[in-house]
Amino acid sequence: MKIAYTVKEVREQVKAWKKEGLTVGLVPTMGYLHEGHASLMKKGVEQCDKVVVSVFLNPMQFGPTEDLASYPRDFEADCKLCEEMGVAMVFHPEPEEMYSPNFCSYVDMSVLTEDLCGKSRPVHFRGVCTVCNKLFNIAQPDKAFFGEKDAQQLAIIKRMVEDLNMDLEIVGCPIIREEDGLAKSSRNTYLNESERQAALILSKSIFLGKKMAEEGETDATKIVAAMTELIETEPQAHIDYVKVVDGLTMQPVDVIEGPIVTAIAVYINKTARLIDNFHFTPAE
Ligand code: PAJ
Repeated sequence: MKIAYTVKEVREQVKAWKKEGLTVGLVPTMGYLHEGHASLMKKGVEQCDKVVVSVFLNPMQFGPTEDLASYPRDFEADCKLCEEMGVAMVFHPEPEEMYSPNFCSYVDMSVLTEDLCGKSRPVHFRGVCTVCNKLFNIAQPDKAFFGEKDAQQLAIIKRMVEDLNMDLEIVGCPIIREEDGLAKSSRNTYLNESERQAALILSKSIFLGKKMAEEGETDATKIVAAMTELIETEPQAHIDYVKVVDGLTMQPVDVIEGPIVTAIAVYINKTARLIDNFHFTPAE
């Protein structure tokens, strides 16, 4: 497995692969990789000849009071997992390699970024869109793999690719959970034992909301109310949002008539802000 630190190295390798007629898959990550990331790599290896994983803790997508400085890192373990998964190249640039001192070009999006995480993290999606656009330009992938764990991010990246005529396919991959239901996340490492237990309230509320929708509840406010009530039974949990939104536009809906995402963000004490969601499409 090749480890590339510069844009030039990635470009040269990808060019050589393309010359041989090989297809390229990209899995963008911020490192501290777990089975959620591995599931994206697995899909990449299944669908593409060569898979590139970027491991880049992108400063642009963190607000000034967020967890950039404390975000967990373990590049050695990341490389080991990538190698085990059959990844062909890891791209691990320094921030200076990605952002020159004169950097001043951004990808901004309206509508889809306005609610949910975009509301509580105002600079976040500008950073995500900009870095993903750069990674797509650098690695020139045929496909890029993103997790449904970050439902708003996935919808935004799909929108960006369509709106800006980017020549690649975005592949969504299902949420990978711990055995007890908690969605796997690099940020779960922030939790102590009692907080780890408290964090189960996220998946419990997701499962409750999903069951209600599957049983025919179309009133989004009732689903939100039931999920909110359940989360509020956990004293260490503090809700950022619980919302039912349109699956494509990420705008709030009151009545479930088409594909929706029910998304939540919950602080566990002041230790971690965790997210989870479920997709649902009512039967015709
Ligand atoms: P990161 O949080 O490292 O996640 C990288 C990818 O892994 C994302 O597409 C995310 O949705 C997916 N992922 C994380 N946990 C998952 C889980 N439990 N199940 C399935 N997929 C999971 O998301 C980012 O990094 C960044 O915003 C990035 C896109 C790399 C841009 O910097």
